[in-house]
Amino acid sequence: MEVVICQDAKEIGGIAADAIGALLERKPDAVLGLATGSSPLAIYDELATRCAAGQISFGRARGFTLDEYVGLPADHPERYRTVIDTVFVSRVDFAPGAVLGPDGGASDLTAACAAYEEAIAAAGGVDLQILGIGTDGHVAFNEPGSSLASRTRIKTLTRQTRLDNARFFGDDLDAVPTHCLTQGLATIMAARHLILVATGRSKAEAVHHLVEGAVSAMWPATILQHHPHVTVLLDDAAARRLQLVDYYRETYRSKPKWQGI
Ligand code: GLP
Repeated sequence: MEVVICQDAKEIGGIAADAIGALLERKPDAVLGLATGSSPLAIYDELATRCAAGQISFGRARGFTLDEYVGLPADHPERYRTVIDTVFVSRVDFAPGAVLGPDGGASDLTAACAAYEEAIAAAGGVDLQILGIGTDGHVAFNEPGSSLASRTRIKTLTRQTRLDNARFFGDDLDAVPTHCLTQGLATIMAARHLILVATGRSKAEAVHHLVEGAVSAMWPATILQHHPHVTVLLDDAAARRLQLVDYYRETYRSKPKWQGI
């Protein structure tokens, strides 16, 4: 696991965009895993800028989102499908239909989960997955207690996650859905490169467990310690509880920049 402590969100966006650009250069039809939440926004902003400048193209790429609320109407602004379209997909040059998400409005949710797993497999799997992390250590919506071998399925959201996300629903906890569809931890672990972004003090405890804690379903993100290619992009505030922070800084500082992440 490579830990990179950045000055600010802009540097995080630049490092991740460099990795995505390099991937698309060697594999223009790459499959990207897209996360919602505020953490990846700097990455999407940077990619949109580079796409507008003709430096990067998603014209042959495909994308899969991580998760979706169950039961929000199709026109709800907080549906993750709508959110990812707004913050990223509509700002770059993906072909129509190139980005898919789990169908939280399906009448048969179990079948929708199985179909989503099949679609990812049919696309050849995810080459590069962007991830955020919840304050309780969840990735996508794999809440504490999730099976470390889980696949896309229906999950019940914890009160903590619903409280954290109430800000997107007018601070009305009752308006936050209680259930979601989410890629499982094993689905995420099958992606070939994982880039996890965390900023701010509220993520420091989760980041501490992710990087230096024991692998446990109580902190679902810790399963990433078993992945051979993970990059964790942090700001100072999110890194403040890491014991080996000086070592991570020194390691990245002395790494030849042509190597990328
Ligand atoms: C939600 C999403 C996660 C995301 C997390 C953190 O629960 N399902 O994919 O990582 O929020 O979001 P933020 O980056 O806004 O802190």
